[in-house]
Amino acid sequence: MYAVFAVSVSDTVASIFGFKMLKLHLAKVSNSSVQTLRNQLHKTYRRYCSGNEKSAESIPGIAYSKLTIGVPREVFKNEKRVALSPAATALLTKKGFNVAVEEEAGIEAKFLNEEYAASGASLVSRDKAFGSDIVLKVRAPSSDEMGLLQSRANLISFVYPAQNKALVDELAKKELTVFAMDAIPRVSRAQVFDALSSMANIAGYKAVVEAANHFGRFFTGQITAAGKVPPAKVLVIGGGVAGLAAIGTAKSMGAVVRGFDVRPSVKEQIESLGAEFLQVNIEESGEGAGGYAKEMSPEFIAAEMALFAKQAKECDIIITTALIPGKPAPKLITEEMVKSMKPGSVIVDLAAEAGGNVATTVPGQLAKIHDVIHIGYTDLPSRLPTQASTLYGNNISKFLLSIGEKEHFNINLEDEVVRGSIILHEASTSLCTFSPIALMC
Ligand SMILES: NC(=O)c1ccc[n+]([C@@H]2O[C@H](COP(=O)([O-])OP(=O)(O)OC[C@H]3O[C@@H](n4cnc5c(N)ncnc54)[C@H](O)[C@@H]3O)[C@@H](O)[C@H]2O)c1
Repeated sequence: MYAVFAVSVSDTVASIFGFKMLKLHLAKVSNSSVQTLRNQLHKTYRRYCSGNEKSAESIPGIAYSKLTIGVPREVFKNEKRVALSPAATALLTKKGFNVAVEEEAGIEAKFLNEEYAASGASLVSRDKAFGSDIVLKVRAPSSDEMGLLQSRANLISFVYPAQNKALVDELAKKELTVFAMDAIPRVSRAQVFDALSSMANIAGYKAVVEAANHFGRFFTGQITAAGKVPPAKVLVIGGGVAGLAAIGTAKSMGAVVRGFDVRPSVKEQIESLGAEFLQVNIEESGEGAGGYAKEMSPEFIAAEMALFAKQAKECDIIITTALIPGKPAPKLITEEMVKSMKPGSVIVDLAAEAGGNVATTVPGQLAKIHDVIHIGYTDLPSRLPTQASTLYGNNISKFLLSIGEKEHFNINLEDEVVRGSIILHEASTSLCTFSPIALMC
């Protein structure tokens, strides 16, 4: 047996190194030398194995393969988005996660059950999807949905904790660990997880499409044998993510576009899209913390409103997107200004959910007031559900994969993105106490 072993070792080594002499030498080794060699190989093998066990043990957190991600169907009224697309599902299953998608969860976003199955997900009941270790959602859970979540599970979703205090208290009672997609810090590293920007970009685009749908003319001007038609004039108030998307879209449709913002840094961005940047004669910067706007002085607001009063008489479409984090939206377009607009003009108030920038907006509704169409929809991203779910799925899956490393889910509160977005961390500080980690610790 030792001779066979010696020959096979010698063959392997010799074939690797190609040294004929070494092969001959090894073929001649005695039984005791073979025994020594064998012992050494065993030792090396044991050292190699124990080293591997050690390195597996030393990766903090839970291996993806021990965790199930649940993707329930969204049931909030008119909500058509889903938290994970089939492509994002494939990314997570490839990394080792088990993914359980509720049957028909993607149907409104035009993602079929079969596509999820082909991406490695299992199609499950609603209870099962909610009963997963990590639940991914778009909308914060309703009180009915709360009952379906396992206590001490993880939830990643839009939450808006400042506006939803009662909900956060309920989630805390279940000792859930909750990450709010809306609270992810807007630092460069987290741009790939920035669902607020993804959704605002879609809202800006869709605002223009909706406006065009209700406006009686083309956006672009035309000179044909049948006559000359001027281009539509569009005013966009607020040049954040949504405002810039609206400006870009309206411009590409041929409209004459003007933009305004309280942050001077926006001027260049608006002009780079080919639009005109409007200005007031007051020196006051609206630059607040984290790239957001601050509340402006009453003098500044009065000056910009005087500017808008003039623009209202001239412009056919006004799209408002002005927001200040944690405050009601500033009221910038009065009823008088609306009355002064030409019949058939269109207003899209993207700030409707935060109270609206326009005095006459009806949040969530389409309304005709003083012969001006008011679009106050608060669900514009959901009105482009395939695009919105694709981008949200990318944001949420990449965010999930950033929590931990080396195929292990691990909440590291030293990570500024984790620390910024986590709004509840299960009552016990030890991750070893919740299933299935309990089995591993
Ligand atoms: N990852 C990142 O680094 C990152 C990501 C997203 C956004 N940002 C920064 O944050 C900015 C704002 O983001 P947002 O679009 O989510 O902002 P937002 O939706 O909170 O605000 C929309 C816009 O309204 C403007 N505004 C506020 N009050 C106004 C008023 N009285 N009149 C006119 N305009 C007014 C703001 O300046 C802002 O541009 C971005 O433009 C960018 O500079 C950074």
